[in-house]
Amino acid sequence: MQELCRLENIRKYYDLGEKIYPVDGISYSINRGDFICIQGPSGVGKSTLMYAIGSLLKIAEGEIYYMGEPISRKTDDELTEIRGNFIGYIFQEANLIKALTLEENLKFISTINRKKFGEEERARLESLLERLGLSDYRNHLPQELSGGQKRRAMIAGALIRNPELILADEPTNDLDDHWSMEVMKIFKELSEEGKAVVFVTHNEKWAKCAKEILELEGGKLIQAHITQDA
Ligand SMILES: Nc1ncnc2c1ncn2[C@@H]1O[C@H](COP(=O)(O)OP(=O)(O)OP(=O)(O)O)[C@@H](O)[C@H]1O
Ligand SMILES: [Mg+2]
Repeated sequence: MQELCRLENIRKYYDLGEKIYPVDGISYSINRGDFICIQGPSGVGKSTLMYAIGSLLKIAEGEIYYMGEPISRKTDDELTEIRGNFIGYIFQEANLIKALTLEENLKFISTINRKKFGEEERARLESLLERLGLSDYRNHLPQELSGGQKRRAMIAGALIRNPELILADEPTNDLDDHWSMEVMKIFKELSEEGKAVVFVTHNEKWAKCAKEILELEGGKLIQAHITQDA
């Protein structure tokens, strides 16, 4: 199936005395091969939309489909299991476990829901550590990593389970040009392998790496332009 995720008229509000709708009737299909950048000013609702796509918050209206199946019909346990295997999240805030080293953090994520840690998982871990310049820091605790190393560790964590859909909220935060470019290369390769990547950035240079740029405005997604550089 080409379509990994479909948003059907989704709405999400926060009640701050009056209701604000950062996501106000969005319909969109995310397909295999997609490499999408979402842009928009601070506070417009990009992180809210990313959480909604990842079913990490409850939407008020509409439906989200993963592989053609509506998630509203799933139990919380089923949804947790689907999320764990299907989606890789890179959050805006750091989410490494403080008491575990970098390698232990990755192994932990890899084995959530009793997933085994076999040859394939070991090879993926090694390849991610290598690719993201983290091999020498595998035994470091999160607080012993620099900001950029921590960000790269979070990216490794999002990819360690080989997810189909990668949701990355400002993945290049704390990264210099070299590592930002490397992360964009990894995303491009993943999309070319038939996965889908959706990321948020404020940086024009990294936005242009995407195949498609969407602007979040007034709770709606607007096609910004198709880029040439991808
Ligand atoms: N849990 C919450 N409760 C109430 N309001 C919230 C909550 N989370 C976000 N908001 C509000 O919703 C709006 C959208 O927030 P969101 O974090 O999605 O913006 P963003 O586009 O990701 O911004 P940034 O670029 O600064 O990360 C903001 O006005 C914010 O204050
Ligand atoms: Mg945000």
